Amino acid sequence: MAENEWGSNLSFILAMIGSAVGLGNIWRYPYVLYSNGGGAFYIPYIVAILLMGIPFLILEYGVGYDFKSSFAKAVKKIDSRWEYLGWFLPVAVFLIMIYYSAILGWDGIYIILSFFKGWGADPNVYFTNTLLHSSNSWMGLLQFIPLIAVAMLVGWVIIWFISHRDLEEGLGRVSKVLVPLLFVIMVVIVGFSLTLPGASIGLSELFHPNWALLGNFEIWMAAFGQIVFSLSLGMSIAFTYASYTKDDADLITNTISIALANSLFENFAALGVFSILGYMSLQSGTAVADLVTQGTGLVFIVYPTVFNVLGQWAYVLGPLFFLTVYLAGLTSILSTIEPLSFSIQNKFGFTRSKTMTLLIIVGALISMIYATAYGGSILGYVDTFINQIALLLGIIFECIIFAWIFKAEKLIDFLNSRSKTIKLGKWWVIIVKYILPIFILIVWIGGMMDVIKSSTFEQLVFTVISAAVLLIGTLVLTILPAKNPDWENYEERI
Ligand code: PHE
Repeated sequence: MAENEWGSNLSFILAMIGSAVGLGNIWRYPYVLYSNGGGAFYIPYIVAILLMGIPFLILEYGVGYDFKSSFAKAVKKIDSRWEYLGWFLPVAVFLIMIYYSAILGWDGIYIILSFFKGWGADPNVYFTNTLLHSSNSWMGLLQFIPLIAVAMLVGWVIIWFISHRDLEEGLGRVSKVLVPLLFVIMVVIVGFSLTLPGASIGLSELFHPNWALLGNFEIWMAAFGQIVFSLSLGMSIAFTYASYTKDDADLITNTISIALANSLFENFAALGVFSILGYMSLQSGTAVADLVTQGTGLVFIVYPTVFNVLGQWAYVLGPLFFLTVYLAGLTSILSTIEPLSFSIQNKFGFTRSKTMTLLIIVGALISMIYATAYGGSILGYVDTFINQIALLLGIIFECIIFAWIFKAEKLIDFLNSRSKTIKLGKWWVIIVKYILPIFILIVWIGGMMDVIKSSTFEQLVFTVISAAVLLIGTLVLTILPAKNPDWENYEERI
């Protein structure tokens, strides 16, 4: 089997689910659901999946499957003046990888701490001061935190161990084990959480529908934003994974399975998170509304606080919970290196193994910025820039290049001929050519305004630095001369 080929359709689907199901499903979705109308949020959420998630994934898969080449090479083939954009997305996704590795590192430390509640009586002080030594000043860059560096390096070694092998032997096999395992552990955690006293308080808070909010533009934006992040849309990952498939895949049905699995997982996670918050609320007398938060605060502060009052059960639930976060993060981070790696292999003729080793060394070195006392702050800034600005632009580019220049219509016949479920029609072309780019543009403008309005000076500086790194990386890879004679040759498939 070739070094970049899935062994079976199952490996492809599970690796895609592994990429989609990540931190966003565990720490982002429950909060988004709660703060945007509870039960009423399901209406914009389902609309976002049907109108954007599934149609757009089909487009990315369709083009990737058709070209059977890396993202940069395909974009160059569609129109060589756009090669630059072909590198922009893979580099942006690689930057995500670098900061995801920090979160993975923190979580690795928490897996160990959870065996003895090593975060002590005040998890907030532990996380912010004892572990991260959080500093809001630039001087924090000079303070290196060896424990975090070691935890991150462990993550990089695991990633290297899996990714430098041939695709099926590494990522394919690992996805087949870890993704089902992730779902099983989640079922155990949620099953247990639902039996806790007070669970129903949390759940009724979560689902209590606020229908009035449906008329509010913001909850629609939140739903679309959640789906972009959660399904890893427009990140050139789906494209790359589809290009690794052999010739017999039913891509439309695959897309539906992946979107369903992703939603199932995040709604399940929401049940678990809110049952536990309900329990905590009952124990402490604090309202659920005052406990709920998202992101690192939920995982590294609220959860340890709950485990502190949970007694003996915490020694089972704690390690299981942090392990779930680790596995979810690992299967996602493994996908973030693929688009850049495959594009470099195509252009410079390196082997998969050599490219991965090289990228992982570069990634690990840069990631050490996050092992400083200022790292936590930088991580927040870079994350906002990539998610709210760079990636949304990437989706708009993809719509222009794939749907308009390449012409989405060309894919309909061959996608339909393999589909055993839904068949595409004109409606699909209208979605990917008009509705989607216009809507994303609106969300993008909203995100930009947000960043500009609420930014501090530091945030603006880091936004500019991240943009510069992204643009320079993109430019260098575009300008460097190709080493692989195949880079200029294409096999016409349509
Ligand atoms: N989809 C992942 C999640 O829900 C996040 C992710 C973003 C993964 C970008 C890969 C690339 O957490």
